[in-house]
Amino acid sequence: MQENIIPHPFSVSKKQRTQLNNHGSFLVWFTGLSGSGKSTIANALEKELNKMRIRTYLLDGDTIRKGLNSNLSFSPADRKENIRRIAEVSHLMIESGLVVLSAFISPYKIDRELVKLTVKKENFIQIFIDTPLAVCKTRDPKGLYVKAEKGLIKNFTGISAPYETPENPDLKIDTTTTSIAEAVKLIIQKIKPKLELI
Ligand code: ADX
Repeated sequence: MQENIIPHPFSVSKKQRTQLNNHGSFLVWFTGLSGSGKSTIANALEKELNKMRIRTYLLDGDTIRKGLNSNLSFSPADRKENIRRIAEVSHLMIESGLVVLSAFISPYKIDRELVKLTVKKENFIQIFIDTPLAVCKTRDPKGLYVKAEKGLIKNFTGISAPYETPENPDLKIDTTTTSIAEAVKLIIQKIKPKLELI
């Protein structure tokens, strides 16, 4: 299928784009259960980075699944395709010179590994938002856990579909003991070396 696809040698490089921005570009990948706080923390992080004059973009499950990935369900195969497309979009955004914040449940280890391969491991920071299922269920900000427990939503992560815990995340944040502001500080500390221009 790909044999007649020959990429054009474009002139402006990622390096030139990041030099204009005056900071490095890479991906901060948030994984965790629904209601764990991924999007909330990613949002607070983006606000802080914006104050620091860092150029960013935030991608999250509920937004992307309304547009680019509106044809995908929550079956294992569709979740894989969801994450594959996000990985490719994140890659393009990294090439464009941005710091990309992606917040997706991404329950399968193999799919998260694919993201790392797609964007290259030096451009990938994985943050596990490690909020216990019981706490996510109590928060239930969208009322989805109640529906899932009644059997009204199938393949719901944590109820009727698995979540594979990351073994070696760059950072693990338990939102029952870490505030949003503390979480942002920890992440900024972690990503600081990658913000430097090489
Ligand atoms: S992922 O598993 O494919 O990575 P993604 O992050 O895009 O999931 O979307 C998760 C969001 O979709 C949840 O925050 C929730 O609001 C909504 N959702 C709807 N149905 C499901 C389901 N079956 N399992 C998990 N989340 C669901």
